[in-house]
Amino acid sequence: MSKLDRIDKAKLPKHLAVIMDGNGRWAKKHGLFRTKGHESGTKAVKEIVEGAAELGIPFLTLYAFSTENWNRPKLEVQTLMKLLVSSLKKEVETLQKNNIRLGAIGALNDLPSKARAELNEVIEATKDNERMTLTLALSYGSREEITKTIKEISSKVKNNIISIEEIDEDVINKHLYTLNLPDVDLLIRTSGEQRISNFLLWQIAYAELYFTEVLWPDFRKEHLLEAILNYQNRERRFGKTSEQLN
Ligand code: IPE
Ligand code: IPE
Ligand code: MG
Repeated sequence: MSKLDRIDKAKLPKHLAVIMDGNGRWAKKHGLFRTKGHESGTKAVKEIVEGAAELGIPFLTLYAFSTENWNRPKLEVQTLMKLLVSSLKKEVETLQKNNIRLGAIGALNDLPSKARAELNEVIEATKDNERMTLTLALSYGSREEITKTIKEISSKVKNNIISIEEIDEDVINKHLYTLNLPDVDLLIRTSGEQRISNFLLWQIAYAELYFTEVLWPDFRKEHLLEAILNYQNRERRFGKTSEQLN
């Protein structure tokens, strides 16, 4: 049986999140500049977006640029921002064809105005698509997100819009960038690194973690299927005992 046939369509992760890592090492391995690694990474983005949509995964979130990535060499940051604009221009058609809606999370005001404008354009153009929601994490950092959330809620308490007693997990969820997304079920990180790097700390509380040695530019549908199969063989207990589940 092929990998695709072995996948249980009733047990797909509802929300898949991916830390796309290893572009730089991929480039180095091939004797190329780091920027070439980022360029090649866009092919993998297309693969996973189409692959996830074909499978029927409703929410896909991709970590494309972290708050800490601003500290990279200026030229690399510039290249990444240019690549974002050109990819959005190029792939808006792919999104429309596949009925995919685009969203973005992060400190988006920190993006260059050109990138922000292009992003908003594609978000607007795809807003009625309903097969899958693709969310790009851009200038995203979980600690920044949580700090922002605390400020917003505190200000509402101060202005008597809500009381301290009313603050619960639901209120917090509604102030995160991810307010319209369910909790993450499966988190994939490529390139062999086994860390979270400030990605969706609150939202991955009960996510299954999957690490693969594959460098991001080499990531293909085949690898996505492998990750999903691995996920489907796990028992998610959410604090309960195995007996309680069965
Ligand atoms: C991931 O690849 C892309 C971004 C973080 C923008 P890297 O650029 O981090 O690649 P490595 O980790 O140096 O190999
Ligand atoms: C995490 O990758 C951010 C993205 C994939 C966008 P990094 O390569 O920046 O992570 P660290 O710094 O190695 O942990
Ligand atoms: Mg990296």
